[in-house]
Amino acid sequence: MGYAYYSEPWKDVHGKIPKEFQKLGVSCRDCHDNKNMGLKLSRWTLKKALTDIGKDPDQLTRQESRSAVCGQCHVTYIVQKDDKMKSKMVFFPWQGSKPENISIENIIKVIRSDPSHLEWKQEVTGFKVGFIRHPEYEFFTAKSVHHQAGLACADCHMPYTRVGTNKISDHNVMSPLKNDMKACQQCHSQTPTWLMNQVFAIQDRTVSVINRAGYSVAVTAKLFELAHKAQGAGKTLDADLYQRAKDLYLEAFYRVIFIGAENSVGFHNPSEAGRICADAVAMASKAESWIRQALAKAGVEIPADINLEMAKYLNDRGVKKLKFRPEIEIKDPFETQPRLTPVSSQGR
Ligand code: HEC
Ligand code: HEC
Ligand code: HEC
Ligand code: HEC
Repeated sequence: MGYAYYSEPWKDVHGKIPKEFQKLGVSCRDCHDNKNMGLKLSRWTLKKALTDIGKDPDQLTRQESRSAVCGQCHVTYIVQKDDKMKSKMVFFPWQGSKPENISIENIIKVIRSDPSHLEWKQEVTGFKVGFIRHPEYEFFTAKSVHHQAGLACADCHMPYTRVGTNKISDHNVMSPLKNDMKACQQCHSQTPTWLMNQVFAIQDRTVSVINRAGYSVAVTAKLFELAHKAQGAGKTLDADLYQRAKDLYLEAFYRVIFIGAENSVGFHNPSEAGRICADAVAMASKAESWIRQALAKAGVEIPADINLEMAKYLNDRGVKKLKFRPEIEIKDPFETQPRLTPVSSQGR
């Protein structure tokens, strides 16, 4: 199908797979050479991305391959759009990065470098923005303690296990928490409970800071909504203040979705998670103060408490998202989950 593949609706492309195979997941060939069972990258996207950061995809060490096979999918990517917002190409935003330093700063820089990298419009602000998707590979390899200690994804997610007299890699790839922390015990002598509590402690700290950053970004988004309403009503906003606010808002926003999309909730690289979240908090509060100044200067009244109106956005998005998975019965998320209480900009 060539590049037309990217512009066809997902359902049509998926429909080309014979029906009996449509529900199969990842297969042996995704990671293995079918001739000698060695590890092999099957995706040109990763090979190109590795080449872009100066790494030869055909010269990976065995340990590097034990992470790279996962990096074929557990990475963020950009689905490039044409003028009519039809998808035309896919690539990883690694240009300008280095191995062990595919940084959030650089990923954001690539996303923001061209309008064709912006894949959707954020309803509340009206800004066109990019996506960040499951960046496990980038986040883990960014000099995490475990990566520096020489570990690969497979060490924790495919630990060696005995089957009869054979030692094999557990191919039931899953969270180490679902397997009594056996993967960790190859190196750590502590009890599974101790190890699990370490993971939870890291995840709790990450959630606490990412929530703070997220609320700050959300409050700023609502202030932009207010600013756009005021502009619609004929008010003029200071262009310099507005531009500064928008720039920092986007920087904070991408950091929040990076940590949110990364699936270990901080564990893969706790200190990097702390750094990214702290930057996001600082940038979002600065953005908030710039946009407040612009509003005040234009004589727009700003409510003391910014109502995030979470239900409005979550409800809509949740339902839309679930429509892609017809096997899941769609329920109103607020039937089962308590409504989130908006946090006021004062009360943080
Ligand atoms: C997500 C990637 C991935 C998929 C999919 C995958 N494997 Fe593996 N496989 C690995 C990794 C990583 C190793 C460890 C290789 C090493 O340490 O050199 C491995 C090792 C092996 C080995 C060597 C013995 C061992 O267990 O260490 C065999 C045999 C094997 N896989 C068979 C299969 C078969 C058959 C399938 C399909 C049913 C499959 N694999 C699917 C990643 C994968
Ligand atoms: C071909 C793409 C692909 C490759 C290669 C791949 N994954 Fe995944 N992985 C996925 C997708 C898609 C999901 C989500 C599945 C779902 O939600 O049903 C997933 C889910 C997971 C999960 C969560 C499983 C669970 O119990 O919910 C872990 C952990 C994981 N992958 C680790 C790895 C590791 C480690 C490797 C490399 C050895 C790897 N993956 C290689 C696509 C891939
Ligand atoms: C030092 C061990 C370790 C290494 C190395 C590691 N992970 Fe993880 N990973 C974890 C832990 C612990 C979690 C958190 C699991 C949980 O919350 O249930 C996790 C979570 C995940 C999840 C989400 C699993 C779920 O059930 O939601 C995915 C996907 C994942 N890792 C993929 C990767 C990939 C890809 C790599 C390599 C780039 C990697 N991991 C390297 C330990 C590790
Ligand atoms: C292949 C060996 C190996 C495996 C497997 C492994 N670790 Fe580690 N881990 C290390 C090394 C090496 C360090 C660096 C500190 C040290 O020397 O103890 C470390 C450090 C840590 C730290 C401190 C990290 C920090 O940022 O301060 C925690 C927590 C941890 N590991 C938890 C785990 C958990 C949970 C698992 C399983 C999901 C796991 N480890 C799997 C080798 C391993």
